[in-house]
Amino acid sequence: MRIAILLSAVMTLVIFSSVVDSQATPKKRLDEATQVCRILTFQNSGWVSEGSKIFARSCKTCHTRDNDKGATFLHSESKTMTAWNRVFLQKYPQCAKDGKWSDLSLDELTKLNDYLFRNAANTYDPNDADDCG
Ligand code: HEC
Repeated sequence: MRIAILLSAVMTLVIFSSVVDSQATPKKRLDEATQVCRILTFQNSGWVSEGSKIFARSCKTCHTRDNDKGATFLHSESKTMTAWNRVFLQKYPQCAKDGKWSDLSLDELTKLNDYLFRNAANTYDPNDADDCG
C-alpha cells in the first residue's frame, strides 16, 4: 500500500515535470479566428517559410534591438504559443491599432502567426527527433 502511494506520487511528479519542461515543436495550431487546424511543418512555418520572411519584412523594420521607433525588441521566442495566438486574434498591440499591419492580408497574418507559434518560447526540445540536427 505504502509503495503504491509512493509510486503514484513519483508518477505524478514525472508527468508534471514533463508538462513544465520545454515542449517539442508543435505539429499543429488551431486558428481560432478561422476555426482551421493548421498543420505546421519546417517548410511552411520554419525559418525558411513565408511567415519568417513576413516577420523580417513587416515587423523587424521596427522591432529590432535599439531601434528608434519606440518598439520593444521582438523575436519568435519573446512570447509563448498561447501569447502569440492572442496577439493575432485580438490584435491588441499599439502598432496593429495604428494601422502598421494594414498592408498584410489575412493569409499573410495567418502564416506569420504559424511561424511565431511554431518557434515560440519553450518550443525547442533537443530530445525531439524534429528538433535535433
Ligand atoms: C512602424 C513600426 C512598427 C511595426 C512595422 C510593427 N510594430 Fe509592433 N509595435 C510598435 C510600437 C511602437 C509598439 C508599442 C511599444 C511596444 O510595446 O513595443 C509595438 C508593440 C507591439 C507588440 C506589443 C509588445 C509586447 O511586448 O507585447 C507586439 C506583440 C507587436 N508590436 C508585434 C508586431 C508584429 C507582429 C508586427 C508585424 C506584423 C509589428 N509589431 C510591426 C511598432 C511597430
